[in-house]
Amino acid sequence: MLVSSTYLRSNMAKYNGRNFERYDLSEDRSLRAWSAADEYLLSELKPEDENIALYHDRFGFLTANIADKKPQVVVSHMSQERAISANLENNELTHTQFIYPLDSLIQPANLALLKVPKSLELFEFYLQHIVSNSTSDVVVLCGFMTRHFSPSLVSIAQKYFEVVEQSLAKKKARILILKVKKSKKVTTILNTIEYNGTTYSQYPGVFSSGHVDFASQFLINHLEIDINEGRVLDLASGNGVIASEISKSESNLEFHLLDDSYLAVESARKNLSTENFHHHYDQNLARFENGFFDLIVTNPPFHFEYEINIQIPLLLLKESYRCLKKGGELWIVANQHLNYKTHLTKYFESTELISEDKKYVVYKCVK
Ligand SMILES: C[S@@+](CC[C@H](N)C(=O)[O-])C[C@H]1O[C@@H](n2cnc3c(N)ncnc32)[C@H](O)[C@@H]1O
Repeated sequence: MLVSSTYLRSNMAKYNGRNFERYDLSEDRSLRAWSAADEYLLSELKPEDENIALYHDRFGFLTANIADKKPQVVVSHMSQERAISANLENNELTHTQFIYPLDSLIQPANLALLKVPKSLELFEFYLQHIVSNSTSDVVVLCGFMTRHFSPSLVSIAQKYFEVVEQSLAKKKARILILKVKKSKKVTTILNTIEYNGTTYSQYPGVFSSGHVDFASQFLINHLEIDINEGRVLDLASGNGVIASEISKSESNLEFHLLDDSYLAVESARKNLSTENFHHHYDQNLARFENGFFDLIVTNPPFHFEYEINIQIPLLLLKESYRCLKKGGELWIVANQHLNYKTHLTKYFESTELISEDKKYVVYKCVK
């Protein structure tokens, strides 16, 4: 099965006779698996276009609609891989081979279709990938909703392309058209963060690139670890900073780090490379058996591109309960307004408030 059965079907909608679903548990029935920006990108394709690379097609709308052209699909999240695969399967289309942004395209692209991500760093990273993996006359079409426009989109594009034009708006969406690349190859520079005597590196687009997130710092400062052997999970681990900080005092623990973002997992792998660290690229805990962990620590996600979705973190917390041993602990930091306590008390035998300030709260939950 492609998508965990816990990721229930929601928001199914039809486009050109095909069915598309979001597979993100969202309870907002108004959300669809594509936007007017995706439709605009699709409408710009000509029958003769071939050798196409797709970037940031979140739920597979573009992949499915041009499946006959066998596009090369660059993916950055496991949730994206699963949603694209599921939507292809829904429409009885053949499976595509995915390409990760740290790998090269199988053949250089003539045309790249890029759905602009919220992260400008990731946008730039994708442009660098296109420059290094395309023919000399490549054309890049970047689709976005007009309300998400920022002048930085243009200035970033101008670093890599001589010609940067903006289309007229259609249904409140626009396209940036990029032509004539400025160089043949670009090397990506990793971001670095200094924290507590350690230098963390991370790929562009990984959560909190300028500094360690303040919520994570709040958790690290209040953690009291009273085990010195056993298994720890850093759930939604980003660059791995929480596991790393724990390992400074408890080096005998076996650490597992899991994140939905491919670039986050590869960043954590760079930061924590010894054999007591195990890295998992996934969107849920299905791979772990019941009672596998002694301790789970997390600063869970709730922002997904331009949306807030509380259903995903709630499922991760429920799964955390299943994966903890009896007596095992979940330590979680959250923004005050999210009110996780109501849910945590439903899942866990005990939920203790460890610390709070105006913005954040740390809970320790015991199974
Ligand atoms: C608030 S950030 C915390 C990152 C890291 N722990 C830190 O302190 O920098 C949340 C992380 O959750 C990841 N994420 C989003 N959805 C996820 C899912 N379904 N499963 C696991 N990780 C997920 C994001 O990629 C992001 O790295």
